[in-house]
Amino acid sequence: MRSKIVAGNWKMNKTAGQTNALLAELSAKLPDTRAEVMVAPVFVNLTQAVGQLGGSKIEVVAQNMHFADNGAYTGEVAADMLLDIGIKTVILGHSERRAYFGEDDALLAKKVQQALAKQMRVIFCFGEELADRKAGNHFNVVESQLKNALFALPADAWKQIVLAYEPVWAIGTGETASPEQAQEMHAFIRQLIAGGYGDALAQNVSILYGGSVKPGNAAEIFSKPDVDGGLIGGASLVADDFIGIIKGIG
Ligand code: 13P
Repeated sequence: MRSKIVAGNWKMNKTAGQTNALLAELSAKLPDTRAEVMVAPVFVNLTQAVGQLGGSKIEVVAQNMHFADNGAYTGEVAADMLLDIGIKTVILGHSERRAYFGEDDALLAKKVQQALAKQMRVIFCFGEELADRKAGNHFNVVESQLKNALFALPADAWKQIVLAYEPVWAIGTGETASPEQAQEMHAFIRQLIAGGYGDALAQNVSILYGGSVKPGNAAEIFSKPDVDGGLIGGASLVADDFIGIIKGIG
């Protein structure tokens, strides 16, 4: 189901105490919104976050997971472990996972399959680097990232997929894609899905934008017809900023 979503990817930030404080402030200040609101703290703070937010509108999601059920994968976390503590949604394919931890399309396809097999929802991230955009290659890069990881899925699986277009050059740089650039790419992505699966399915997929979304630019980006919300990094670490962005979606 296509829905509006604002998700905060906290990345490797916030201790347990800081997590508690930020969630308390977010809960107290959360405005009425049509959007689904999510936060993704680090693994070790997920259990406490789920406990703290029980009954709240804010969903706690994970930043990553492994493709295997369990086993000798030191330092990794499996889907069942997330489900067991009440996590139903996982972010996969973030550009930082791709760049710093060698995650490629083939690995991500396995992770996506595992998440779907476990009935989890996936926020699948992808996006071109600056050099790709400068070379005019950004549509090709995005097309291959999506096709390699997701286009072997059966149509039914797309109910569990949320896409997050995050141009790498806009992440943490303060340089956001313009609303027009975001819309152009999101429309392209929806067309790709329509080409593979038909227009009705494509119209039902939520496509989020991520990359230097702030309270000051959120409303304009979110006003674009193919932008269904945002995946927020830095600004999700400050309650008033994240709240300001949620207000931007209405
Ligand atoms: P920033 O909002 O800090 O640019 O990060 C975006 C992001 O990577 C969200 O996953």
